[in-house]
Amino acid sequence: MGTAGSSADTHSFAEPEKAVVKHLDLDIHVDFASRVVSGEASWQIENVGKVDEIIFDTRQLIIEKVTLGEEEKETTFSLADSVQYLGKALRVKIQPATQLVNIYYRTSKDAAALQWLNPQQTAGKKQPFLFTQSQAILARTWIPCQDSPGIRFTYEATVEVPKDLLAVMSAENPQAKNTDGKYTFKQPHAIPSYLMALAVGDIAFKAVDQRSGVYAEPVSLEKVAYEFADMGKMITAAENLYGPYKWGRYDVLVLPPSFPFGGMENPMLTFATPTVIAGDRSLVSLIAHELAHSWSGNLVTNATWNDFWLNEGFTVYFERRIVEAVYGKDEAVMQEVLGSQDLHATLEDLGRNSPDTKLKADFTGRDPDEGVSDIAYEKGFAFIRFIEEAVGRERLDAFLKEYFDSHAFQSVTTEDFLTYMDQHLVKGDNKLRERLNTDAWIFEPGLPADAVKVESAKFRAIAQLLREFQTTQDISVLSGVNRSTNELLYLIRHLPESITTEQMSALDHKFEFTRSGNSEIQAAWYALAIRKAYTPAYPAIEAFLTQVGRRKFLVPLYKEMIRTPEGKEWAAKIYRTARPNYHSVAYHSIDELLGQ
Ligand code: BES
Ligand code: ZN
Repeated sequence: MGTAGSSADTHSFAEPEKAVVKHLDLDIHVDFASRVVSGEASWQIENVGKVDEIIFDTRQLIIEKVTLGEEEKETTFSLADSVQYLGKALRVKIQPATQLVNIYYRTSKDAAALQWLNPQQTAGKKQPFLFTQSQAILARTWIPCQDSPGIRFTYEATVEVPKDLLAVMSAENPQAKNTDGKYTFKQPHAIPSYLMALAVGDIAFKAVDQRSGVYAEPVSLEKVAYEFADMGKMITAAENLYGPYKWGRYDVLVLPPSFPFGGMENPMLTFATPTVIAGDRSLVSLIAHELAHSWSGNLVTNATWNDFWLNEGFTVYFERRIVEAVYGKDEAVMQEVLGSQDLHATLEDLGRNSPDTKLKADFTGRDPDEGVSDIAYEKGFAFIRFIEEAVGRERLDAFLKEYFDSHAFQSVTTEDFLTYMDQHLVKGDNKLRERLNTDAWIFEPGLPADAVKVESAKFRAIAQLLREFQTTQDISVLSGVNRSTNELLYLIRHLPESITTEQMSALDHKFEFTRSGNSEIQAAWYALAIRKAYTPAYPAIEAFLTQVGRRKFLVPLYKEMIRTPEGKEWAAKIYRTARPNYHSVAYHSIDELLGQ
């Protein structure tokens, strides 16, 4: 299964059917002065085809020396020409009996996975910080590896960092600093390279319960622990749905605000943006999402980036089931409705006939990172939700549990999944097969007309108030809106295009949107403020764009700005100051937008 999928991975130079990695011993030194990670990646390999070379992926790496075996016999290697996004194939000469390949290397200054922060860019302002982001194909910019999600390996690591900093990885982690700055790690389960992760900084730990806890800069630790207090409940809820959590501990590291994603499901240690620390636990479904990846994604992994929906669609479904179990049906339904609206907006945006709206994607020749759209997430969710409606929860849950169990620590293609579903869920029921119409869902663009349509009673009440507002133009009508995050988001999204800046100002006085400490509300409100030239929000927008590096917020705001000539100038001005604060994943997207 895994090898069939991985050989079709057009985003890796590796040829795992010939020679494939099994285990990594990483021994690296992190130097903040030169902003270089250097050391040795020692790979245990299996020379499956008894061939005379093994191929690794590298990008922006300097390869110093390659040796074979414990005896470190020097061998020859070559670095191929660089290919856009993919980097350079590293071909190492081996023997039929070779079991160990030792690669001595260092990273370059612009390594795309790494973000080096100076003290000013952290919460504590005293120590520098480094974090990695390997998904989708950036692991190769800090470790020479076979960088395909279809190839798995276990790892151990020794990481040497400045004495007053702590290092943590996607592995069993230390909970406190030691005196020599040398930390060791062990990941006993086989994982794909995109789940390799490292963070180094002034990081402290606080337990949430026996098997979960939070890591954050000391100044934020208490707030973070308060926000994520329900983590233990979430893990239990997840286990009740789809079986035991298989990774030992589950911890979350909250990063400085430049982290380009909401969350990243690094095994045993989710990396998360501080923008989910709203103070009222209202954005913690992100933790449910990253936790769910411990099954869908980390346990059962998309074999190639064209199968990305297998990771994200299942995870969004699982996330909402956890949210329902811990926070109730109303909450889960509101999130489902908001997600469905995102999906329809994305379908309009890409065009309902666009091949990029297919679940089985084709990112060949492109950076798979560009494929991160609501299609994999929300159309993927809609597909699983549709199956739920067709077969009932009980049957779907039993099927999913069995699917995770039987494919644990394996990589799966879309086609593998469809075959498995036909054998274990449809089981010769032709009527069901016809009803599910999987070909249309998976291989055709757009959204099938029989997708489940959900409604939220809470949102319906707001829609009613909005209609009253439309007829009366009296803003005080909207005082009746509940102040939960979802409801406020619904309100902002559904304000009529005809709203005046005076009305926005009145709303702002009522709800304090501009000064909100909730990043989702800020992002939604700021987009409207830009569109309506609501200038009182401008200073807050500038501050937000300068401090926050989360791509999901940045891209829509810059997009909104560049719709007018003045906006374009404003965007360019802000970007000049803000760009140095962004991770490469974020600034690449925005460079493209602003035509830089
Ligand atoms: N694995 C993704 C993040 C990702 C995807 C990184 C593709 C690089 C390439 C993570 O699980 C994710 O989906 N994060 C979301 C949050 C979630 C609640 C939808 C995000 O970062 O916004
Ligand atoms: Zn995800």
